Amino acid sequence: MEQNRGNWSSRFGFIMAAVGSAVGLGNLWKFPYLAGENGGGAFVLVYIVLIIILGFTLMLAEMTVGRHSNSDAYGAYNKIKKGFGFIGGFGILSGFLILSYYSVVGGWVMKYITASFSGIGADKSEYFSSFISSPVEPIVYHLIFMGLTAVIVIRGISGGIEKASKLLMPALFVLLLLTVIRSVTLDGAMEGIRYFMNPDFSEITLKVVIAALGQVFFSLSLGMGIMVTYGSYLRKDEDLEKDAFLIPSLDSLVAIISGFAILPAVFAFGFAPTEGPGLMFITLPAVFESMPLGTLFAALFFLLVFFAALSSSISLMEVTVAFGIDQFKWTRKKSVLFFTTLMFLIGIGASLSMGAWSDFLIPWIDGNAYGIFDFLDVLTSYYLLPLGGLFGAIFIGYIWGVPNAVKEIKTGSKFRTEKLWTILIKYVVPALVFIILLSTTGVLERVFNL
Ligand code: TRP
Repeated sequence: MEQNRGNWSSRFGFIMAAVGSAVGLGNLWKFPYLAGENGGGAFVLVYIVLIIILGFTLMLAEMTVGRHSNSDAYGAYNKIKKGFGFIGGFGILSGFLILSYYSVVGGWVMKYITASFSGIGADKSEYFSSFISSPVEPIVYHLIFMGLTAVIVIRGISGGIEKASKLLMPALFVLLLLTVIRSVTLDGAMEGIRYFMNPDFSEITLKVVIAALGQVFFSLSLGMGIMVTYGSYLRKDEDLEKDAFLIPSLDSLVAIISGFAILPAVFAFGFAPTEGPGLMFITLPAVFESMPLGTLFAALFFLLVFFAALSSSISLMEVTVAFGIDQFKWTRKKSVLFFTTLMFLIGIGASLSMGAWSDFLIPWIDGNAYGIFDFLDVLTSYYLLPLGGLFGAIFIGYIWGVPNAVKEIKTGSKFRTEKLWTILIKYVVPALVFIILLSTTGVLERVFNL
């Protein structure tokens, strides 16, 4: 066991660090393009419903497991019940795979900080696709992003991350609001707002639900033990119930504001909302170009996206690194260097799959074949994270036992939602995640001929 585990220095510090992990590329980059690809308002509606049912329930569950056992993701489950460390182990694998491609996108963001100054040219779409598909430059940026993450994780996170998050998160919020104001006041923005806010119920298909579920896990950093780890640094009198409500709320708020920053501008400039991963990189530069001091704002905006990505990537790396330290008894430095190298190498594949290796496709059980980048994303967001959440819920409901979890929560909280949470964690969450997982794999369709 780790000695001197330490605590967060303040409740605000913890909230900002947890929000720092949650708010990242998932909110600013993924959410708007997923909404764009999956019917706009229909996606937003399903997303919000799932956040309310799953986000709160699982956030509370993970923090409770962490605070109770005072250890890393693997150790926490194992300590409560021998043999169940694999649930944390599962998360460690997800974090490892997510960071491999997350860092590639982090690199794109860094490129756009400098590109904002040097100019992106008239054809933003062409600029983006030729950049990400080139063989060397994106990999260099990926290396730098990974390196920066490693440098911070080597030094430990509590002081640095907590401090940085306290500054960066509020700053990000302000800049995001400025972007929104510019975006929604553009000519033709209304169509985008309508697309984003008016749910067309006929658009709510299985695909939309699956995408929204994956996004809930990804955006809240759930299903892989980060909240277990962060929760383990909390004091016994911390009100977990309140935190589990606040963190998902703030995270979703940022996601929705990002949607308002991006989608109205997409329509105003005549782009298709179904652009996919390029959405933020293509439309935002166009929006900034049309405003006074646009260059400066663009650079600042991408700088803040970069910080948001970094505070998330650190939390991703920490879970894997802690595993190396605890399970193999490595030094922190050795663990960081080893895993960083591996993740960097996998990331090279992810980056190349945007260009040189785009023909290399991995067949998957859902019947599709994916490039390396998409494969890592699909495997983690749609399978590993939900599976981690499912195991976590079953663990609490049936292995550890809800009464034990409730006792832990109640050391610092009145826990007004006890009855509701009990039903959600025992029945609703496992059933819902299980059904969606089955449909994700295509099993439901095959068995029931849907
Ligand atoms: N939540 C972060 C984002 O929205 C990404 C992230 C950080 C994450 N840690 C995670 C995703 C753990 C899944 C699991 O960008």
